Amino acid sequence: MGEHDVIDLLVAQHGQIRDLFDEVEQAPPDKVAAAFERLTRMLSVHETAEEEIVHPYARRKLDNGPGVVSDRLAEENEAKRLLLDLHKAGVDDPRFWDRLGELRAAVSRHARGEERYEFARLRARTTTVERRAMAAAVRTAEALAPVRPHPGTESATGNMLKGGPLALMDQARDMIRKALGRR
Ligand SMILES: [Fe+2]
Ligand SMILES: [Fe+2]
Repeated sequence: MGEHDVIDLLVAQHGQIRDLFDEVEQAPPDKVAAAFERLTRMLSVHETAEEEIVHPYARRKLDNGPGVVSDRLAEENEAKRLLLDLHKAGVDDPRFWDRLGELRAAVSRHARGEERYEFARLRARTTTVERRAMAAAVRTAEALAPVRPHPGTESATGNMLKGGPLALMDQARDMIRKALGRR
C-alpha cells in the first residue's frame, strides 16, 4: 500500500480486512487458524490506530465530534468484544463460523459508519499535511499486522499472537504513542 493520506490508508485497511475475512472463510481446514490470526492482527492494529490517532482528532475538529466519535467507539467496542471472545474460543469451537459471521457483520457496520460519518467529514476539516502526519503514525504499527503470510511462520501457530489480541493492541498503542511523541 502506498497511501500517504490517513483516510485513504484506513479505507484501504477496511478493504484488507474484508479480504482477510474472505480468506478465513475460504481457507482449507488446516489453514483456518493462520488466516484467522492474520485477521486478528490486522483488526487489532487497525482499531488501535483509529482510537489513538483519528478519533481524538475527529472529536476535536468535527461539528458534534464527541457524538460522532462515541457512536464509533460503541461499534468498535462491540467488534472488539466479539473478536476477543472468538479468539478465546478458537477456530475449533463449534460456534466459530456463526460467531465469525457476527464479527464480520459488526466490523463492516462499523467501517461503513466511519467512512460515512467520520472520515468524509474529517477530510474536509484537515489539511493534507495533517493527514500525512497521521498516516505516518498509523504506519508505525502496521508492521505488527502483516497481511501476507511470511513463509515458514504459518505452521508455528503456537508462536503467533502470544498474549492474544489485547497484548497486540497494547503493543500497537505503545508504538503509536512513541511515534506521536506521547507517553
Ligand atoms: Fe474503527
Ligand atoms: Fe476502521
